[in-house]
Amino acid sequence: MSALLKPQAMAFRPMRSEDLDALIRIERASYPYPWTLGNFRDCLDSGYSTWVGEVEGELAGYWVMMQAVDEGHILNCCIAPAWQGRGFGYSLMRHLIATARGNATVTLYLEVRPSNTRAVNLYQRLDFDSIALRRNYYPADQGREDALVMRLIL
Ligand SMILES: CC(C)(COP(=O)(O)OP(=O)(O)OC[C@H]1O[C@@H](n2cnc3c(N)ncnc32)[C@H](O)[C@@H]1OP(=O)(O)O)[C@@H](O)C(=O)NCCC(=O)NCCS
Repeated sequence: MSALLKPQAMAFRPMRSEDLDALIRIERASYPYPWTLGNFRDCLDSGYSTWVGEVEGELAGYWVMMQAVDEGHILNCCIAPAWQGRGFGYSLMRHLIATARGNATVTLYLEVRPSNTRAVNLYQRLDFDSIALRRNYYPADQGREDALVMRLIL
């Protein structure tokens, strides 16, 4: 099989401060209300679980989780626009879930915009349940948008 036909795999490694410039470029291209450089620095400095995924040596995605005892709160999960829609979000989340299980996490939580249907579908396929709605949680073009709270019991 030629190299071109081989399925691309995502390789994971811990996030480093040298990644921040690339991360912020992806973040700004991916979210209407992106994190700042300071948000990423704070997560690194706080010792949160912070990982990046590379495809063909290129930084293609990342996730950030805050752990409190046996609960994990997913703070960010992102695939760069050029790599979206090819199953890498699924790989990234499976890596996050495996890492959380390895850290003795029992329950994972996340918030997502209900309008972010690709993300909601992805979490549902990974067996996250919708457990609550936080009213007016996110900034939006017109006013605010609710957040769907989702939970996965590991
Ligand atoms: C949301 C996001 C992480 C998803 O990553 P992605 O790589 O684009 O998505 P994938 O290709 O893995 O998944 C796309 C679809 O295939 C499904 N899928 C992919 N691989 C799968 C697999 N192996 N088995 C089952 N389902 C799979 C997903 O559920 C999803 O369904 P849909 O297209 O019918 O909606 C990504 O689009 C992104 O970073 N968006 C911008 C930032 C963002 O919104 N982050 C989430 C904040 S809560």
